[in-house]
Amino acid sequence: MTASKKPGTALITGASSGIGAVYAQRLARRGYDLVLVARNRSRLDALAGKLKEESGRQVETIAADLTNKADIARVEAAIRGNRDLTVLVNNAGVGSASPLLGSDIEKMEAMIAINVNALTRLTYAAVPAFVDRKAGTIINIASIVAVSPETLNGVYGGSKAFVLAFSQSLQHELGDKGVRVQAVLPGATATEFWGIAGVPIAHLPKEIVMKTDDMVDAALAGLDQGEQVTIPSLPDLAEWSAFDAARRAMSDKLSRVLPAARYGVGSVAAAA
Ligand SMILES: NC(=O)c1ccc[n+]([C@@H]2O[C@H](COP(=O)([O-])OP(=O)(O)OC[C@H]3O[C@@H](n4cnc5c(N)ncnc54)[C@H](OP(=O)(O)O)[C@@H]3O)[C@@H](O)[C@H]2O)c1
Repeated sequence: MTASKKPGTALITGASSGIGAVYAQRLARRGYDLVLVARNRSRLDALAGKLKEESGRQVETIAADLTNKADIARVEAAIRGNRDLTVLVNNAGVGSASPLLGSDIEKMEAMIAINVNALTRLTYAAVPAFVDRKAGTIINIASIVAVSPETLNGVYGGSKAFVLAFSQSLQHELGDKGVRVQAVLPGATATEFWGIAGVPIAHLPKEIVMKTDDMVDAALAGLDQGEQVTIPSLPDLAEWSAFDAARRAMSDKLSRVLPAARYGVGSVAAAA
């Protein structure tokens, strides 16, 4: 009889509330030990206590502000130093619903720091060991605004387009190295995100807001089904597949020696 393989440890950022807290609960139920990261230490500790009791798993917490370089470095060190780490959930993030040019640039920069910089640095910290072990899973929480930047604030949309493109590039580079990368594109989900972004959730039409449990359960089902991009709300997966196929089909026509004929300029000699 072979001993069953332990799932290992999952590190989840933004685990103090909303989507991250549900990932923590679901992954504990799947047998993972956890490292929970966010700023609010008391919320993290309360969740850790509850999950330890519920699941019997080991649960550590790291109170860290992922807009702060020294704090990010502590989380990177925790990732590099944990040989049991098998899953990284890059979930921590903030959004905004305010118009692009009416937004405070300092807040926009802080949004980029957490949604883009922290996610990138933590991924860089995790990937080398995953590649060495030919195993590991990175779950990046993007958003539907990655493909619908007109929906909310443009910096938020841009930051989530980064998460999607970065995830697709990682899938391309790491897919044959045993590392799984999933980008999750939630639509509106019933968390504190909306209040923080400046729109009370009660102001959204009920029919577009998903329960957090349902969103995470669908995302994990998508992961189990081998999806690289999971859009929990999208009824017909063929629509995403057609969109992605169109992008891929266009990609080998995007770099050429001559400008397109419609511009009426350019010659091979000038371009050489
Ligand atoms: N809710 C939606 O409709 C929706 C839709 C699409 C995508 N998303 C994405 O889902 C992810 C999770 O959001 P959510 O909806 O679950 O919202 P949430 O309940 O507000 O959770 C955000 C999490 O990120 C943490 N966080 C925020 N700023 C941080 C910082 N500077 N350093 C460290 N942690 C920080 C928060 O914890 P602390 O405050 O304790 O630090 C919290 O745990 C985000 O990336 C968001 O963009 C949400």
